[in-house]
Amino acid sequence: MYDITPEDAANPFATMSRPDVHANPYPFYDYLRDTSPVAPGPNNMWFVTKNALVSEVLNNDAQTSTKVRSAKGSNPIEDLWSSAYDSELLFSGGERHAFLRSFANAAFKPRRVRKLRPQLEEDVNRYLDRVADSGKIDVTADLAHPFAINAVMRIIGLPQDSMPEVDRWSTAMGAMLDPTKGQDPVYRGPANEAFAECTAFVGSLLEERAANPQDDVLSDFAANMNTDGGLSSMDIMGIVIRGMINAGHATTTAQMGNNMLAMLAFPDQLEKLTANPDLATNAVEELLRFDPAIQLSVRIAAEPLDVGGVPVDGSEAIILLGGAANRDPEAFENPNEIDIERDCARTMTSGGGEHYCLGAVLARLECEVALMETIKRMTNFELLVPVDEVERDSNITLRTTTSIPVSFELR
Ligand code: HEM
Repeated sequence: MYDITPEDAANPFATMSRPDVHANPYPFYDYLRDTSPVAPGPNNMWFVTKNALVSEVLNNDAQTSTKVRSAKGSNPIEDLWSSAYDSELLFSGGERHAFLRSFANAAFKPRRVRKLRPQLEEDVNRYLDRVADSGKIDVTADLAHPFAINAVMRIIGLPQDSMPEVDRWSTAMGAMLDPTKGQDPVYRGPANEAFAECTAFVGSLLEERAANPQDDVLSDFAANMNTDGGLSSMDIMGIVIRGMINAGHATTTAQMGNNMLAMLAFPDQLEKLTANPDLATNAVEELLRFDPAIQLSVRIAAEPLDVGGVPVDGSEAIILLGGAANRDPEAFENPNEIDIERDCARTMTSGGGEHYCLGAVLARLECEVALMETIKRMTNFELLVPVDEVERDSNITLRTTTSIPVSFELR
Protein backbone atom coordinates (compact mmCIF):
# COMPACT_ATOMS: atom_id res chain seq x y z
CA MET A 1 0.00 0.00 0.00
CA TYR A 2 1.58 3.33 1.04
CA ASP A 3 3.70 4.57 3.96
CA ILE A 4 2.31 6.86 6.64
CA THR A 5 4.63 8.75 8.99
CA PRO A 6 3.72 10.52 12.25
CA GLU A 7 4.13 13.82 10.31
CA ASP A 8 1.48 12.64 7.80
CA ALA A 9 -0.82 11.73 10.67
CA ALA A 10 -0.34 15.18 12.23
CA ASN A 11 -1.86 16.85 9.16
CA PRO A 12 -4.75 14.64 8.03
CA PHE A 13 -6.36 16.98 5.48
CA ALA A 14 -3.05 17.39 3.62
CA THR A 15 -2.43 13.63 3.74
CA MET A 16 -5.96 12.87 2.51
CA SER A 17 -5.21 15.09 -0.51
CA ARG A 18 -2.06 13.09 -1.38
CA PRO A 19 -2.83 11.17 -4.61
CA ASP A 20 -2.09 7.69 -3.25
CA VAL A 21 -4.12 8.29 -0.08
CA HIS A 22 -6.89 10.04 -2.01
CA ALA A 23 -7.25 6.96 -4.25
CA ASN A 24 -7.81 4.80 -1.14
CA PRO A 25 -7.98 6.63 2.21
CA TYR A 26 -8.93 3.57 4.27
CA PRO A 27 -5.40 2.37 5.24
CA PHE A 28 -4.66 5.95 6.39
CA TYR A 29 -7.83 5.93 8.52
CA ASP A 30 -6.72 2.57 10.02
CA TYR A 31 -3.37 4.13 10.93
CA LEU A 32 -5.09 7.06 12.67
CA ARG A 33 -7.56 4.78 14.49
CA ASP A 34 -4.75 2.46 15.65
CA THR A 35 -2.35 5.20 16.76
CA SER A 36 -4.67 7.95 18.00
CA PRO A 37 -8.46 7.59 17.58
CA VAL A 38 -8.87 11.27 18.55
CA ALA A 39 -5.88 12.78 16.74
CA PRO A 40 -4.83 16.43 16.97
CA GLY A 41 -4.40 18.29 13.67
CA PRO A 42 -3.45 21.84 12.70
CA ASN A 43 -5.74 24.87 13.31
CA ASN A 44 -7.37 23.55 16.49
CA MET A 45 -8.82 20.48 14.79
CA TRP A 46 -9.34 16.96 16.16
CA PHE A 47 -9.77 13.94 13.88
CA VAL A 48 -12.00 11.12 15.16
CA THR A 49 -11.90 7.67 13.54
CA LYS A 50 -13.49 5.23 16.03
CA ASN A 51 -17.08 4.22 15.28
CA ALA A 52 -18.37 4.62 18.85
CA LEU A 53 -16.81 8.08 19.22
CA VAL A 54 -17.98 9.34 15.82
CA SER A 55 -21.49 8.25 16.75
CA GLU A 56 -21.24 9.81 20.23
CA VAL A 57 -20.23 13.24 18.90
CA LEU A 58 -22.73 13.20 16.00
CA ASN A 59 -25.49 12.52 18.50
CA ASN A 60 -24.30 15.19 20.95
CA ASP A 61 -26.31 18.08 19.49
CA ALA A 62 -26.56 19.78 22.89
CA GLN A 63 -22.81 20.36 23.26
CA THR A 64 -21.72 20.76 19.65
CA SER A 65 -22.65 22.96 16.73
CA THR A 66 -22.27 22.87 12.96
CA LYS A 67 -21.54 26.61 12.80
CA VAL A 68 -18.09 26.30 11.30
CA ARG A 69 -17.72 30.10 11.34
CA SER A 70 -17.53 30.04 15.12
CA ALA A 71 -14.51 27.70 15.14
CA LYS A 72 -11.20 28.92 16.55
CA GLY A 73 -8.98 29.98 13.69
CA SER A 74 -11.84 30.25 11.17
CA ASN A 75 -11.89 33.22 8.86
CA PRO A 76 -15.53 34.01 8.05
CA ILE A 77 -16.26 35.41 4.61
CA GLU A 78 -19.22 37.77 4.20
CA ASP A 79 -20.92 37.15 0.86
CA LEU A 80 -24.18 35.86 -0.62
CA TRP A 81 -23.17 32.27 0.15
CA SER A 82 -22.61 33.05 3.85
CA SER A 83 -25.83 35.09 4.09
CA ALA A 84 -27.81 31.88 3.49
CA TYR A 85 -26.08 29.85 6.24
CA ASP A 86 -28.88 30.57 8.70
CA SER A 87 -31.43 29.21 6.23
CA GLU A 88 -29.43 26.06 5.57
CA LEU A 89 -30.38 22.97 7.56
CA LEU A 90 -26.82 21.81 8.09
CA PHE A 91 -25.55 25.14 9.43
CA SER A 92 -28.47 26.00 11.69
CA GLY A 93 -29.07 24.49 15.11
CA GLY A 94 -31.51 24.17 18.01
CA GLU A 95 -34.96 25.72 17.56
CA ARG A 96 -34.08 27.40 14.28
CA HIS A 97 -32.99 24.05 12.84
CA ALA A 98 -36.09 22.29 14.19
CA PHE A 99 -38.28 24.97 12.54
CA LEU A 100 -36.62 24.59 9.10
CA ARG A 101 -36.41 20.81 9.37
CA SER A 102 -40.14 20.46 10.14
CA PHE A 103 -40.99 22.06 6.77
CA ALA A 104 -38.28 20.06 4.97
CA ASN A 105 -39.51 16.75 6.48
CA ALA A 106 -43.10 17.54 5.57
CA ALA A 107 -42.18 18.26 1.95
CA PHE A 108 -39.74 15.35 1.63
CA LYS A 109 -42.22 12.85 3.05
CA PRO A 110 -41.58 9.12 2.47
CA ARG A 111 -44.88 8.78 0.57
CA ARG A 112 -43.69 11.33 -1.97
CA VAL A 113 -40.26 9.64 -2.23
CA ARG A 114 -41.72 6.12 -2.62
CA LYS A 115 -44.13 7.29 -5.30
CA LEU A 116 -41.13 8.16 -7.47
CA ARG A 117 -39.95 4.56 -7.82
CA PRO A 118 -41.61 3.62 -11.17
CA GLN A 119 -40.51 6.94 -12.66
CA LEU A 120 -36.94 6.39 -11.47
CA GLU A 121 -36.89 2.86 -12.92
CA GLU A 122 -38.00 4.30 -16.24
CA ASP A 123 -35.31 7.01 -16.03
CA VAL A 124 -32.51 4.50 -15.38
CA ASN A 125 -33.64 2.36 -18.30
CA ARG A 126 -33.63 5.40 -20.56
CA TYR A 127 -29.97 6.02 -19.63
CA LEU A 128 -29.13 2.33 -20.12
CA ASP A 129 -30.89 2.26 -23.54
CA ARG A 130 -28.44 4.91 -24.75
CA VAL A 131 -25.40 2.69 -24.13
CA ALA A 132 -26.92 -0.80 -24.49
CA ASP A 133 -25.68 -1.46 -28.05
CA SER A 134 -22.16 -0.17 -27.42
CA GLY A 135 -21.29 -2.71 -24.71
CA LYS A 136 -19.64 0.09 -22.71
CA ILE A 137 -20.86 2.47 -20.03
CA ASP A 138 -19.22 5.26 -18.10
CA VAL A 139 -21.06 4.60 -14.85
CA THR A 140 -20.46 8.13 -13.56
CA ALA A 141 -21.10 10.18 -16.69
CA ASP A 142 -23.70 8.04 -18.48
CA LEU A 143 -25.77 6.97 -15.48
CA ALA A 144 -25.01 8.25 -11.95
CA HIS A 145 -24.55 11.96 -12.66
CA PRO A 146 -27.61 12.54 -14.90
CA PHE A 147 -29.82 10.14 -12.92
CA ALA A 148 -29.05 11.79 -9.56
CA ILE A 149 -29.82 15.31 -10.77
CA ASN A 150 -32.93 14.05 -12.52
CA ALA A 151 -34.23 12.35 -9.36
CA VAL A 152 -33.77 15.37 -7.14
CA MET A 153 -35.35 17.63 -9.78
CA ARG A 154 -38.38 15.36 -9.99
CA ILE A 155 -39.12 15.43 -6.27
CA ILE A 156 -38.57 19.20 -6.00
CA GLY A 157 -40.67 19.82 -9.13
CA LEU A 158 -38.04 21.48 -11.35
CA PRO A 159 -38.85 21.23 -15.07
CA GLN A 160 -36.85 18.58 -16.93
CA ASP A 161 -35.70 20.99 -19.64
CA SER A 162 -33.82 23.04 -17.03
CA MET A 163 -31.45 20.12 -16.33
CA PRO A 164 -28.36 21.62 -18.05
CA GLU A 165 -28.56 24.81 -15.94
CA VAL A 166 -29.42 23.02 -12.70
CA ASP A 167 -26.54 20.62 -13.35
CA ARG A 168 -24.12 23.51 -13.93
CA TRP A 169 -25.25 25.33 -10.77
CA SER A 170 -25.10 22.16 -8.72
CA THR A 171 -21.56 21.41 -9.91
CA ALA A 172 -20.34 24.93 -9.02
CA MET A 173 -21.95 24.76 -5.56
CA GLY A 174 -20.67 21.21 -4.96
CA ALA A 175 -17.14 22.48 -4.17
CA MET A 176 -18.55 24.17 -1.04
CA LEU A 177 -18.99 20.68 0.47
CA ASP A 178 -15.19 20.48 0.83
CA PRO A 179 -13.72 22.26 3.89
CA THR A 180 -10.44 22.88 2.06
CA LYS A 181 -12.18 24.56 -0.90
CA GLY A 182 -15.05 26.33 0.86
CA GLN A 183 -12.92 29.39 1.71
CA ASP A 184 -11.05 29.52 -1.62
CA PRO A 185 -12.16 32.37 -3.96
CA VAL A 186 -11.47 30.16 -6.99
CA TYR A 187 -14.42 27.98 -5.95
CA ARG A 188 -16.38 30.45 -3.84
CA GLY A 189 -16.90 32.98 -6.68
CA PRO A 190 -18.56 30.49 -9.08
CA ALA A 191 -20.59 29.02 -6.18
CA ASN A 192 -21.94 32.50 -5.33
CA GLU A 193 -22.86 33.15 -8.97
CA ALA A 194 -24.56 29.75 -9.27
CA PHE A 195 -26.51 30.32 -6.06
CA ALA A 196 -27.70 33.76 -7.27
CA GLU A 197 -28.85 32.39 -10.65
CA CYS A 198 -30.51 29.36 -9.11
CA THR A 199 -32.31 31.59 -6.56
CA ALA A 200 -33.84 33.68 -9.36
CA PHE A 201 -34.93 30.52 -11.18
CA VAL A 202 -36.49 28.83 -8.12
CA GLY A 203 -38.13 32.14 -7.16
CA SER A 204 -40.01 32.34 -10.46
CA LEU A 205 -41.15 28.72 -10.12
CA LEU A 206 -42.44 29.38 -6.59
CA GLU A 207 -44.66 32.14 -7.98
CA GLU A 208 -46.00 29.73 -10.58
CA ARG A 209 -46.70 27.03 -7.97
CA ALA A 210 -48.45 29.51 -5.66
CA ALA A 211 -50.95 30.03 -8.50
CA ASN A 212 -51.04 26.39 -9.71
CA PRO A 213 -50.06 23.92 -6.96
CA GLN A 214 -48.87 20.41 -7.92
CA ASP A 215 -47.74 17.34 -5.96
CA ASP A 216 -44.16 18.50 -5.39
CA VAL A 217 -41.85 20.10 -2.83
CA LEU A 218 -42.02 23.55 -4.45
CA SER A 219 -45.81 23.66 -4.17
CA ASP A 220 -45.66 22.79 -0.45
CA PHE A 221 -43.12 25.56 0.12
CA ALA A 222 -45.01 28.08 -2.03
CA ALA A 223 -48.04 27.53 0.22
CA ASN A 224 -45.91 28.36 3.30
CA MET A 225 -43.90 31.26 1.88
CA ASN A 226 -44.07 34.52 3.86
CA THR A 227 -47.17 33.32 5.75
CA ASP A 228 -47.59 33.83 9.50
CA GLY A 229 -45.21 31.26 11.09
CA GLY A 230 -44.05 30.17 7.63
CA LEU A 231 -40.78 30.30 5.71
CA SER A 232 -39.04 33.35 4.23
CA SER A 233 -38.00 33.10 0.59
CA MET A 234 -34.33 32.82 1.74
CA ASP A 235 -35.33 29.89 3.99
CA ILE A 236 -36.84 28.15 0.98
CA MET A 237 -33.68 28.78 -1.08
CA GLY A 238 -31.57 27.43 1.79
CA ILE A 239 -33.60 24.24 1.98
CA VAL A 240 -34.26 23.66 -1.73
CA ILE A 241 -31.03 24.84 -3.31
CA ARG A 242 -28.50 24.10 -0.58
CA GLY A 243 -30.31 21.23 1.17
CA MET A 244 -31.70 19.37 -1.83
CA ILE A 245 -29.93 20.32 -5.07
CA ASN A 246 -26.47 20.92 -3.59
CA ALA A 247 -26.63 18.23 -0.88
CA GLY A 248 -28.53 15.70 -2.99
CA HIS A 249 -26.89 15.64 -6.42
CA ALA A 250 -23.14 15.26 -5.98
CA THR A 251 -23.55 12.88 -3.03
CA THR A 252 -25.80 10.37 -4.74
CA THR A 253 -23.79 10.56 -7.98
CA ALA A 254 -20.68 9.73 -5.97
CA GLN A 255 -22.38 6.93 -4.06
CA MET A 256 -23.68 5.16 -7.18
CA GLY A 257 -20.18 5.20 -8.67
CA ASN A 258 -18.61 3.91 -5.45
CA ASN A 259 -21.25 1.18 -5.32
CA MET A 260 -20.40 -0.07 -8.80
CA LEU A 261 -16.65 -0.10 -8.05
CA ALA A 262 -17.30 -2.08 -4.88
CA MET A 263 -19.50 -4.61 -6.68
CA LEU A 264 -16.80 -5.09 -9.32
CA ALA A 265 -14.22 -5.68 -6.58
CA PHE A 266 -16.40 -8.39 -4.97
CA PRO A 267 -17.83 -10.39 -7.91
CA ASP A 268 -19.10 -13.21 -5.65
CA GLN A 269 -21.32 -10.68 -3.85
CA LEU A 270 -22.55 -9.28 -7.16
CA GLU A 271 -23.42 -12.81 -8.24
CA LYS A 272 -25.25 -13.44 -4.97
CA LEU A 273 -27.26 -10.22 -5.36
CA THR A 274 -28.12 -11.03 -8.97
CA ALA A 275 -29.44 -14.43 -7.89
CA ASN A 276 -31.27 -12.95 -4.84
CA PRO A 277 -32.74 -9.54 -5.74
CA ASP A 278 -34.63 -9.56 -2.44
CA LEU A 279 -31.25 -8.74 -0.81
CA ALA A 280 -31.14 -5.41 -2.68
CA THR A 281 -32.11 -3.15 0.22
CA ASN A 282 -29.50 -4.61 2.57
CA ALA A 283 -26.90 -4.76 -0.21
CA VAL A 284 -27.29 -1.00 -0.67
CA GLU A 285 -26.82 -0.48 3.09
CA GLU A 286 -23.61 -2.47 2.91
CA LEU A 287 -22.36 -0.55 -0.13
CA LEU A 288 -23.07 2.72 1.69
CA ARG A 289 -21.04 1.43 4.64
CA PHE A 290 -18.16 0.18 2.56
CA ASP A 291 -17.36 3.30 0.56
CA PRO A 292 -19.50 6.26 1.63
CA ALA A 293 -19.87 9.29 -0.59
CA ILE A 294 -19.51 11.61 2.41
CA GLN A 295 -16.31 10.83 4.26
CA LEU A 296 -16.49 13.37 7.08
CA SER A 297 -18.67 15.70 9.12
CA VAL A 298 -17.52 18.75 11.05
CA ARG A 299 -18.69 19.76 14.53
CA ILE A 300 -17.56 22.65 16.73
CA ALA A 301 -17.37 22.01 20.49
CA ALA A 302 -19.82 24.49 22.03
CA GLU A 303 -18.12 23.98 25.42
CA PRO A 304 -15.14 21.96 26.72
CA LEU A 305 -15.75 18.28 25.91
CA ASP A 306 -14.28 14.89 26.69
CA VAL A 307 -14.03 12.81 23.52
CA GLY A 308 -12.80 9.31 24.25
CA GLY A 309 -10.74 10.62 27.19
CA VAL A 310 -9.23 13.49 25.16
CA PRO A 311 -10.07 17.02 26.36
CA VAL A 312 -11.38 19.21 23.52
CA ASP A 313 -11.66 22.96 24.17
CA GLY A 314 -14.80 24.97 23.44
CA SER A 315 -14.83 26.29 19.83
CA GLU A 316 -12.31 23.71 18.60
CA ALA A 317 -13.29 21.75 15.47
CA ILE A 318 -13.98 18.02 15.59
CA ILE A 319 -13.63 16.24 12.25
CA LEU A 320 -15.71 13.06 12.35
CA LEU A 321 -14.37 10.63 9.77
CA GLY A 322 -17.48 8.59 8.97
CA GLY A 323 -15.55 6.71 6.28
CA ALA A 324 -13.17 5.51 9.01
CA ALA A 325 -15.98 4.72 11.47
CA ASN A 326 -17.57 2.47 8.82
CA ARG A 327 -14.39 0.36 8.65
CA ASP A 328 -13.80 0.12 12.41
CA PRO A 329 -13.18 -3.57 13.24
CA GLU A 330 -14.78 -3.00 16.65
CA ALA A 331 -18.08 -2.22 14.89
CA PHE A 332 -17.88 -4.52 11.85
CA GLU A 333 -16.25 -7.91 11.46
CA ASN A 334 -13.94 -8.02 8.41
CA PRO A 335 -14.73 -4.38 7.64
CA ASN A 336 -12.71 -4.33 4.40
CA GLU A 337 -14.90 -7.05 2.85
CA ILE A 338 -18.35 -6.63 1.32
CA ASP A 339 -21.02 -8.86 2.83
CA ILE A 340 -24.43 -7.94 1.42
CA GLU A 341 -26.16 -9.76 4.29
CA ARG A 342 -24.28 -7.91 7.05
CA ASP A 343 -26.03 -6.03 9.87
CA CYS A 344 -25.20 -2.43 8.95
CA ALA A 345 -26.91 -0.73 11.91
CA ARG A 346 -23.75 1.08 13.05
CA THR A 347 -23.03 2.67 9.67
CA MET A 348 -22.35 6.43 9.85
CA THR A 349 -22.97 7.19 6.15
CA SER A 350 -26.09 9.31 6.72
CA GLY A 351 -24.75 11.02 9.84
CA GLY A 352 -26.61 11.06 13.16
CA GLY A 353 -28.42 13.31 15.63
CA GLU A 354 -30.54 16.26 14.50
CA HIS A 355 -28.60 16.67 11.24
CA TYR A 356 -29.25 13.10 10.07
CA CYS A 357 -29.44 13.18 6.27
CA LEU A 358 -32.74 14.61 4.99
CA GLY A 359 -32.37 12.64 1.74
CA ALA A 360 -31.45 9.26 3.28
CA VAL A 361 -34.57 7.52 1.93
CA LEU A 362 -34.31 9.06 -1.54
CA ALA A 363 -30.57 8.32 -1.79
CA ARG A 364 -31.12 4.65 -0.93
CA LEU A 365 -33.98 4.38 -3.40
CA GLU A 366 -31.84 5.89 -6.17
CA CYS A 367 -28.91 3.57 -5.38
CA GLU A 368 -31.16 0.51 -5.34
CA VAL A 369 -32.97 1.34 -8.57
CA ALA A 370 -29.73 2.19 -10.43
CA LEU A 371 -27.98 -1.00 -9.33
CA MET A 372 -30.87 -3.42 -9.74
CA GLU A 373 -32.08 -2.11 -13.13
CA THR A 374 -28.47 -2.28 -14.39
CA ILE A 375 -27.79 -5.85 -13.29
CA LYS A 376 -31.20 -6.97 -14.59
CA ARG A 377 -30.12 -6.05 -18.12
CA MET A 378 -26.34 -6.37 -18.05
CA THR A 379 -23.70 -8.85 -16.91
CA ASN A 380 -19.96 -9.69 -17.16
CA PHE A 381 -18.87 -6.20 -16.17
CA GLU A 382 -15.21 -5.30 -16.51
CA LEU A 383 -13.53 -2.13 -15.37
CA LEU A 384 -11.62 -0.74 -18.36
CA VAL A 385 -8.90 1.03 -16.31
CA PRO A 386 -6.85 -0.24 -13.34
CA VAL A 387 -8.82 0.49 -10.18
CA ASP A 388 -6.09 2.82 -8.81
CA GLU A 389 -6.35 4.90 -11.95
CA VAL A 390 -10.09 5.58 -11.78
CA GLU A 391 -10.46 9.36 -12.23
CA ARG A 392 -11.45 11.11 -9.01
CA ASP A 393 -12.46 14.63 -8.09
CA SER A 394 -9.99 16.20 -5.64
CA ASN A 395 -12.71 16.76 -2.99
CA ILE A 396 -11.80 15.09 0.34
CA THR A 397 -15.27 15.27 1.92
CA LEU A 398 -17.06 13.88 -1.09
CA ARG A 399 -15.48 10.65 -2.29
CA THR A 400 -16.39 10.76 -5.93
CA THR A 401 -15.32 9.76 -9.42
CA THR A 402 -15.43 11.71 -12.66
CA SER A 403 -15.38 8.59 -14.83
CA ILE A 404 -15.82 4.82 -14.37
CA PRO A 405 -15.48 3.16 -17.79
CA VAL A 406 -16.90 -0.37 -17.74
CA SER A 407 -17.64 -2.95 -20.43
CA PHE A 408 -20.61 -5.34 -20.16
CA GLU A 409 -22.65 -7.91 -22.04
CA LEU A 410 -26.41 -7.74 -22.37
CA ARG A 411 -28.30 -10.62 -20.79
C1 HEM B 1 -25.77 8.67 -0.81
C2 HEM B 1 -26.05 9.95 -0.82
C3 HEM B 1 -25.93 10.81 0.39
C4 HEM B 1 -25.03 10.76 1.41
C5 HEM B 1 -23.85 9.81 1.56
C6 HEM B 1 -25.38 11.80 2.35
C7 HEM B 1 -24.71 12.03 3.55
C8 HEM B 1 -25.10 12.94 4.50
C9 HEM B 1 -24.48 13.11 5.79
C10 HEM B 1 -23.28 12.32 6.31
C11 HEM B 1 -25.13 14.10 6.43
C12 HEM B 1 -24.84 14.63 7.84
C13 HEM B 1 -23.86 15.76 7.76
C14 HEM B 1 -23.42 16.24 9.13
O1 HEM B 1 -23.99 15.84 10.13
O2 HEM B 1 -22.46 17.03 9.19
C15 HEM B 1 -26.17 14.58 5.55
C16 HEM B 1 -27.01 15.61 5.84
C17 HEM B 1 -27.90 16.13 4.93
N1 HEM B 1 -28.24 15.59 3.70
FE1 HEM B 1 -27.45 13.95 2.86
N2 HEM B 1 -26.47 12.47 1.89
C18 HEM B 1 -26.85 11.89 0.70
C19 HEM B 1 -27.92 12.25 -0.09
C20 HEM B 1 -28.76 13.30 0.17
C21 HEM B 1 -29.89 13.67 -0.63
C22 HEM B 1 -30.39 12.90 -1.86
C23 HEM B 1 -30.41 14.82 -0.09
C24 HEM B 1 -31.60 15.65 -0.48
C25 HEM B 1 -32.16 15.62 -1.65
C26 HEM B 1 -29.61 15.15 1.09
C27 HEM B 1 -29.82 16.22 1.92
C28 HEM B 1 -29.18 16.40 3.13
C29 HEM B 1 -29.46 17.52 4.01
C30 HEM B 1 -30.42 18.66 3.77
C31 HEM B 1 -28.66 17.34 5.14
C32 HEM B 1 -28.60 18.23 6.38
C33 HEM B 1 -29.73 17.84 7.28
C34 HEM B 1 -29.84 18.70 8.53
O3 HEM B 1 -28.88 19.38 8.87
O4 HEM B 1 -30.92 18.67 9.13
N3 HEM B 1 -28.63 14.19 1.21
N4 HEM B 1 -26.15 13.83 4.38
